[in-house]
Amino acid sequence: MFQTEQIRVGGFDSNFSYLVRNGTDCAIVDPCGDVEKIHAAWNAAKSAIPFLKSTYILLTHSHADHVSGISLVRRFFPAPVCASRFTPLRCDRKLDDGERLPLGEGFLECLLTPGHSPDSICYRTSDDSALFTGDTLFVGCCGFCRAEPMFASLRRLRALPDCLTVYSGHDYGEFPSDSLGRQKRVNPYLSAETLAQFRERLRHLE
Ligand SMILES: [Fe+2]
Repeated sequence: MFQTEQIRVGGFDSNFSYLVRNGTDCAIVDPCGDVEKIHAAWNAAKSAIPFLKSTYILLTHSHADHVSGISLVRRFFPAPVCASRFTPLRCDRKLDDGERLPLGEGFLECLLTPGHSPDSICYRTSDDSALFTGDTLFVGCCGFCRAEPMFASLRRLRALPDCLTVYSGHDYGEFPSDSLGRQKRVNPYLSAETLAQFRERLRHLE
């Protein structure tokens, strides 16, 4: 069973990092902000599950506020850094669309979702419990973007199961996380039906 811990790491602008584990495998998504908080969450998880392994460090994209903690996190969590194959950063593993990263008995599916940045990527847990969306999809809005690729990326996310919990890169919404099903109904960027409508709605993005 996958378990996700959302960590308020502060950082540049109410950033989130995540600890996601399944069995004895564990990944950190977006190592950034106050790394001591990530360290504390890791220590607590390890004391609950003694053989917990540091399996991956996953980046949702290369913007500085999401990757600022890589070197500090690697001191206590020595795992390969994985990112989209379009990342401009040096990393250990470059991920393709649809690639499956084994985690415990399940996997994380990689979805390349350009728009906010060319290297934006989302990660979906194979039990459909969690979707890590970085700055592609926020609770209630989406990241600054180029309209055309973002519209296509959001349409892909919209096709995923309602039961997924959206875990984004910043705490910008009315809740820190929400079900994808609810976001499909209430998020005007996710619910846009046409590119023209999406472009119109983007004009209201602050
Ligand atoms: Fe960003």
